[in-house]
Amino acid sequence: MKSTIVSLSLISLLVSGSPTPSIQKRALPAAGSNLSNLTLAAVRTPPVNWPSPVLNKNWNGVKFDINATVAFGVALISQAKSMGADLVAFPETWFPGYPKGYDLNNWMYLHAPDFIANSLVVNSSQWNLLTEAAATNQIYVALGFSERSGDFIYMAQALIGPDGEVLIHRHKLRPSGSERLLWSDGTIEMLDVVSTPIGRIGMLECWEHFHPAMTFAVQAQTEDIHIGAWPYNPDPTDSAALFWEKAETNDAAARVYAINSGAITVAPAINHGSILSGIGAALVTADSNLSYVQHPIIYTSVNGSTFNNVTYNTNGEQSWAILQQMNAAFPSYIPKDNGTFVAQRSNSVASLISAANNFTATT
Ligand SMILES: *[C@@H]1O[C@H](CO)[C@@H](O)[C@H](O)[C@H]1NC(C)=O
Ligand SMILES: *[C@@H]1O[C@H](CO)[C@@H](O)[C@H](O)[C@H]1NC(C)=O
Ligand SMILES: *[C@@H]1O[C@H](CO)[C@@H](O)[C@H](O)[C@H]1NC(C)=O
Ligand SMILES: *[C@@H]1O[C@H](CO)[C@@H](O)[C@H](O)[C@H]1NC(C)=O
Ligand SMILES: *[C@@H]1O[C@H](CO)[C@@H](O)[C@H](O)[C@H]1NC(C)=O
Ligand SMILES: *[C@@H]1O[C@H](CO)[C@@H](O)[C@H](O)[C@H]1NC(C)=O
Ligand SMILES: *[C@@H]1O[C@H](CO)[C@@H](O)[C@H](O)[C@H]1NC(C)=O
Ligand SMILES: *[C@@H]1O[C@H](CO)[C@@H](O)[C@H](O)[C@H]1NC(C)=O
Repeated sequence: MKSTIVSLSLISLLVSGSPTPSIQKRALPAAGSNLSNLTLAAVRTPPVNWPSPVLNKNWNGVKFDINATVAFGVALISQAKSMGADLVAFPETWFPGYPKGYDLNNWMYLHAPDFIANSLVVNSSQWNLLTEAAATNQIYVALGFSERSGDFIYMAQALIGPDGEVLIHRHKLRPSGSERLLWSDGTIEMLDVVSTPIGRIGMLECWEHFHPAMTFAVQAQTEDIHIGAWPYNPDPTDSAALFWEKAETNDAAARVYAINSGAITVAPAINHGSILSGIGAALVTADSNLSYVQHPIIYTSVNGSTFNNVTYNTNGEQSWAILQQMNAAFPSYIPKDNGTFVAQRSNSVASLISAANNFTATT
């Protein structure tokens, strides 16, 4: 989610590199999967303790609970399998919960330490419960999580194969707006698309879908299925939504992405999620009149026999030749100055926690 930059002068923004994890790539078909009837699922119910309804940003007295959220996630994976799903996708940072309103009411001081403590650590016992759930249910699982790694947290996504192997593990390249004060930037090596027995799968999250810096590299790798995770969407008719959290805004990005990539686009989001065809039509969507407690997951089935499963398209709109043309078209009067925006930005968790401790000590 994008929001406006807030001034948090106590928080130091350190610039450093982040480790690039090694990625194991192996995949099996999901057991029982039938390419001509591939069933895709998107979670739309909130994680444990997330304030309801969807635009409630009051975190007073609320605690994140990664253990209970992982247990709930495992139950949802199993439920998706019981409905015949070959793949199930979770919203952005669903583990342990997108901190909507983190730029309001001193959230960064009052709740960030608890949020950081509940961020998921790859290869931890909680992580292993999720990869085991993928393997036990023999289903592809697309995770959205806040990842704790050393002194940093990242907006992370992972694709787990039906054998429990990690096929993709990535960090949002540039968190949006003031998200950049909490989470650290990912790296461009993490814009991966993988071939699987159910087609080429890639992933991006939220406002990455607006930015060619992220979309071009992924679309150039020709996905059959795209995971486009948003944290939450209010109903399209909800006039209380800010411009960057409006369902219309985010649906537009998902639709344009689906059309540009031609990929079936699975767009999980709390409340209003969708699964779109490769021409941007909603195959399934839901709003608040369909209770997310009673209907925690939306499903659709597609004919995957039509997938191309090729790794690039020399003659496509996202190709090497187009990249050269974009470079050549860049106006010569604009200085070749890297500026400060793109430089990889990292926020020390120790500094965030220290700022929170100083704040509570002086108020
Ligand atoms: C998790 O464990 C696997 C298997 O030991 C290893 O390959 C991978 O690098 C680890 N990932 C992280 C982020 O530590
Ligand atoms: C796969 O699904 C299609 C469409 O429902 C069906 O016609 C076909 O019999 C199924 N194939 C198998 C092997 O189950
Ligand atoms: C496709 O698979 C789903 C999930 O198993 C099932 O509910 C649906 O009936 C199937 N569709 C067809 C046309 O077979
Ligand atoms: C969460 O689960 C882990 C084991 O998976 C356990 O070590 C830890 O104590 C649990 N945390 C809480 C707060 O219950
Ligand atoms: C796509 O190609 C890979 C080999 O590159 C293969 O392992 C996989 O099964 C193929 N998937 C489909 C859906 O054809
Ligand atoms: C919810 O509202 C939408 C838009 O008004 C409508 O299309 C849909 O049928 C409604 N769904 C339910 C379950 O009532
Ligand atoms: C799926 O698409 C393939 C390839 O276009 C086609 O031959 C097949 O009839 C389709 N299957 C179904 C169940 O629509
Ligand atoms: C600008 O950034 C690019 C990589 O993004 C780098 O190769 C280049 O050296 C940088 N130029 C300057 C002047 O720092």
